[in-house]
Amino acid sequence: MGLIIKEFFFVSNPFFLNKFSDINSKIRLELSIENFMEENKDYNISLKAKLIERIKELECLYEIAQLTLEKSNSPIQDIFIEVLPIAIKAWQYPEITEVSITFDEKKYASTNFDKGLYFQRSEIVINNQKRGCLEVCYTQDKSNAVEGPFLAEERALINIIAKELSDSVERYESKEEKKILEQKLRHSDRLATVGELTAGIAHELNEPLGSILGFAQLIEEENINNQYLQKDIKKIINAAVHAREVIRKLMLYSRNNEKDTTFVNLNTIISDGFYLLENRCKKENITILKVLDDNLPELKANAVQINQVIVNLMVNAIQAMPNGGNLLLQTNFDKKNIYLVVQDNGGGIPENYMKKIFDPFFTTKEIGSSTGLGLSVVHGIVNSLKGKISVESNLGIGSRFELIFPIKKDDDGDNKK
Ligand SMILES: Nc1ncnc2c1ncn2[C@@H]1O[C@H](COP(=O)(O)OP(=O)(O)O)[C@@H](O)[C@H]1O
Ligand SMILES: [Mg+2]
Repeated sequence: MGLIIKEFFFVSNPFFLNKFSDINSKIRLELSIENFMEENKDYNISLKAKLIERIKELECLYEIAQLTLEKSNSPIQDIFIEVLPIAIKAWQYPEITEVSITFDEKKYASTNFDKGLYFQRSEIVINNQKRGCLEVCYTQDKSNAVEGPFLAEERALINIIAKELSDSVERYESKEEKKILEQKLRHSDRLATVGELTAGIAHELNEPLGSILGFAQLIEEENINNQYLQKDIKKIINAAVHAREVIRKLMLYSRNNEKDTTFVNLNTIISDGFYLLENRCKKENITILKVLDDNLPELKANAVQINQVIVNLMVNAIQAMPNGGNLLLQTNFDKKNIYLVVQDNGGGIPENYMKKIFDPFFTTKEIGSSTGLGLSVVHGIVNSLKGKISVESNLGIGSRFELIFPIKKDDDGDNKK
């Protein structure tokens, strides 16, 4: 190519033309140029073809970059689908080119990809993990003696597109992760607000309720022989006891729960909870498996509240296994945290309920028998101890609640054992 340009420059430059005043030598030169062009015809054609290919590749990369920018807020699948026709255009024979993107076991392919005969492939790698691949194929034989069916540039291009896709997925996933984190933050904020609100209401209701219960019991005692009255008053008492239970839980859920903290041993509280629920478990054919770390450091917390956490989680687990099963209670620790696991092999929690289970009054159980406050109480208490709670659940397999409590140091900086 350099040579051609040089020769062309040579003949068209007046300076040089003047030098060649001799007609013969000019004709000789023109003839030699013609010869040169003729001799290099094939070379020129292939150069032109390569240039066209290069332009197509650059256009393809530009379009993909543009697409990922425009669709930065769309699901990643949309990008995959739109990349297919763009990539097809970039190959030497678009009419017989088919493209497929496989990602997380899902395949996005152009119409005739299955009819492919010659394949090229490049992996989609995200955070050093292979998650899929980009494949390009020809549906007809286009093998060429020098390069095989695909050009060297095309072998490089498929890698560049796969890298571009990997980068897009990475950007997309980190954005999604951020969104989920923000949602979680908003959710716990909402729970905290509800907590404050309910605490106020609970205190207001506690007193009149105490009076209702107290006077109802008084009427009951004073009318021991009045059967009709006894039946009705029993209903009032039961309803008031149920309401008191709700209020007690609401008060526990409130944020004002840093009072009366001592050093408590999670293992002891688990054993107490176990003692209370042992008979019920036996009756319901539930085996309790305790894997407790004997050296567990103590936790600076309110014993009643920790008891509530464990009992609530155990009761939920028991209720999730009406036909019996295994209930695992596990504790361990490291330098920073104490860990508690309550796991059952019950029915599991449906995906669409997962976001709601910590909401106050959310329940899937019969109204009257359950308050829907168990997990919100747990959440409130764990939160007040600057701990964390996470749930993993699979339908038909079971649920696992994992709690992390940071170990608080006492005033001497030592942990009590
Ligand atoms: N271990 C579990 N297995 C299955 N579902 C559970 C489990 N723990 C909680 N849930 C679900 O979360 C809901 C809320 O639980 P909770 O706040 O304790 O209220 P309640 O037990 O009164 O319904 C339950 O109704 C149930 O649908
Ligand atoms: Mg419950």
